[in-house]
Amino acid sequence: MSTGVAPVRPLDAASAAELHRAAARILAECGTSATSPHLLRRVAESAAALPGPARRHLRPADTDHGLFVLRGLAVDDAAIGPTPASWATAGDRGALHDVVLLLLATAMGTPLAWEGQQGGRFVHNIVPAPGHEREQTGASSDVLLSPHTEDAFHPGRAHLLLLACLRNPDGVATTAASIRRARTPDADVATLTRPELPILPDAAYARARGFAGRPPDVPTLWRSEDGLTLRFDPAYTPLEKAGPAYRAAYARLEAELARVSVAVSLNPGEVLVLDNDLVVHGRVPFTARYDGTDRWLKRASVRVPGRRTRPPAEAAEHGYGQIAVEAHVR
Ligand SMILES: [Fe+2]
Repeated sequence: MSTGVAPVRPLDAASAAELHRAAARILAECGTSATSPHLLRRVAESAAALPGPARRHLRPADTDHGLFVLRGLAVDDAAIGPTPASWATAGDRGALHDVVLLLLATAMGTPLAWEGQQGGRFVHNIVPAPGHEREQTGASSDVLLSPHTEDAFHPGRAHLLLLACLRNPDGVATTAASIRRARTPDADVATLTRPELPILPDAAYARARGFAGRPPDVPTLWRSEDGLTLRFDPAYTPLEKAGPAYRAAYARLEAELARVSVAVSLNPGEVLVLDNDLVVHGRVPFTARYDGTDRWLKRASVRVPGRRTRPPAEAAEHGYGQIAVEAHVR
């Protein structure tokens, strides 16, 4: 059961069926959900042809929550097979849902992949992996995955993040907190808009962590034309290097985000759409089963062309040598 707090958009049965049909057609043609120019072209054609009601449900989040749960897609639990033991062995498991998610992502913007993450795929598998239980990455389980902006270290990070649930038998909650629902005094906004600290690459980016360039200092908060936005990842921010005033403002922001946080326990078929400029997300701790029935999410990242929610100075950042690859689907 999803929380009553997160806005829910029920997808009508005809739109859900059309998404599944289109994904099945594309998968039958391509034979795999691994990225290829042909797959991306077919996804773009099918996304453009989605019926009006589907497209209306896929409009941007339009409340201060900065998120919504799309409900109405189906998952055949037997057909998807066991939960993979790690992203590295997932391959084409649940490939139909990779393509459904790519269709949704393409209807909302331009899907984004990373050369250095999950083999360059546009859709990632989020499953608990043995040996990674205590990391601050999607492969963890035993620890609280602390609230963060996705790929906060990089100027090419997603505007939107899509988390599609294939399986979640223990109702493990994703947490989400919007800066637009937090109380942030003007003085703290001014302090946290000063670029005082870098955000370092997370543990999912092995090569970026060895990058030799100087980490750029970046603002935590930003007043964009559209309203307040944030770039926040305390687990990878060297807070000890900041002055006391900055650290105190950062701690107040962290507490406010905790106060307004909502817990979203996704059911199979539900897709959580998060605005990565407004919302930080995390996950509560859980005990992994490692028996093929574990929580299994698919993740897609989306850039929205023409969006002006980021400080202009980001354009000059090196991104620790990581290359964000946009699907050439527009
Ligand atoms: Fe994340």
